[in-house]
Amino acid sequence: MGLFSSRKKEALITQIPADVIGSVSAPARVAVPDAVIDTELSRQAEEAVVVEREEHAFAVESAAAPAPEPEAALTAAPAPEPEDPDLYGPIGADGKLRTYRDKLPVTRVAGQTKVVCVLNQKGGVGKSTTAINLSAVLGDMGRQVLLVDLDPQGNSTSGLGIPKRLIQKSTYDVLLNNKDGDPRYLEQVIIPDVVKGVDVVPATLDLASAELELVMEFSRESRLKNALGAYLGRYDYMIIDCPPSLGLLTVNALVAADKILTPIQCEFYALEGLTKLLETKDRVKKTINPRLDMLGIVMTMYSRTNLADQVVEEVRKHFGNLVFDTVIPRNVKISEAPSFGLPVTQHAPNSKGAQAYVALAKEVIARG
Ligand SMILES: Nc1ncnc2c1ncn2[C@@H]1O[C@H](COP(=O)(O)OP(=O)(O)O)[C@@H](O)[C@H]1O
Ligand SMILES: [Mg+2]
Repeated sequence: MGLFSSRKKEALITQIPADVIGSVSAPARVAVPDAVIDTELSRQAEEAVVVEREEHAFAVESAAAPAPEPEAALTAAPAPEPEDPDLYGPIGADGKLRTYRDKLPVTRVAGQTKVVCVLNQKGGVGKSTTAINLSAVLGDMGRQVLLVDLDPQGNSTSGLGIPKRLIQKSTYDVLLNNKDGDPRYLEQVIIPDVVKGVDVVPATLDLASAELELVMEFSRESRLKNALGAYLGRYDYMIIDCPPSLGLLTVNALVAADKILTPIQCEFYALEGLTKLLETKDRVKKTINPRLDMLGIVMTMYSRTNLADQVVEEVRKHFGNLVFDTVIPRNVKISEAPSFGLPVTQHAPNSKGAQAYVALAKEVIARG
């Protein structure tokens, strides 16, 4: 508990000042009057205090924690059969990472696989958070999901409790070490059933050099697509967590994907960089991947302020129906869940954050 709370505190402390600083120094794209910004800044400072208090409340609450709420509250599904929580998790009884051979039997036939990349070349907008939590909710709703971590930071990997030191093969190997072009190479890399319905292709820091190494390689843009190909039909969704850039790693995601899901943070310079993102999408669509389209834009880290409301309005004005109805609130349970290695839907099933990701998943399913 001591470890968790200090890690948690560190995460919160680094997160809040970054937001405050970001709002001051970044160039303005959405015109917002100065008075609103001032109010926003003082509000964020106040919020920092509230977060501290909430955190304290959390510590007290979890010390005397009653049995966790049943999962049923999350999904509208009729009473699911009781499940053994030990069925899921990255580590097997031998203390090593589970391998594809350990994968639990899949009782339901997967539909046509939708490959979705979670992309915004800005960092810290909620890509990994969305990739993790959307995957977890879809898995909980009975879908088979393959979450592919394509970011050297490996936040989707560690956020689901996968210890990086135990990883033998990762996305780096998928892209650069499958020398014989084995179509089933992914089986050596997948960690099955990390949470219900979700298998993970983990990333480690060595992926950072892949960007450069790929430049010299044959079919460098299609490595990921080729690796995923043999597994289409086994999953309902493949969710790719992209790095914060538009380099070759991201191009690999765009070539492999059918759809792009773009999280946008409800903040002052929300739309910055979006033109470039859409240009890149169009270029890939015209040249290599004609299927590629936007799945939608999801507004993240919303807090009830004039500024956030104006940003949401502005983004909706620009992008209309492309923007999901669900707006993900700024929620402390969302930000602390990764330090427990859990999606927010398991860490705090009744939180506003968890409920928002359930609503988002329903919209994603509805968009087909
Ligand atoms: N809705 C939210 N409420 C509170 N904190 C959030 C929320 N979404 C993301 N965060 C936090 O913001 C930071 C950046 O989010 P992350 O998903 O890692 O962004 P990205 O993958 O785009 O870089 C992380 O510390 C994460 O926990
Ligand atoms: Mg990320």
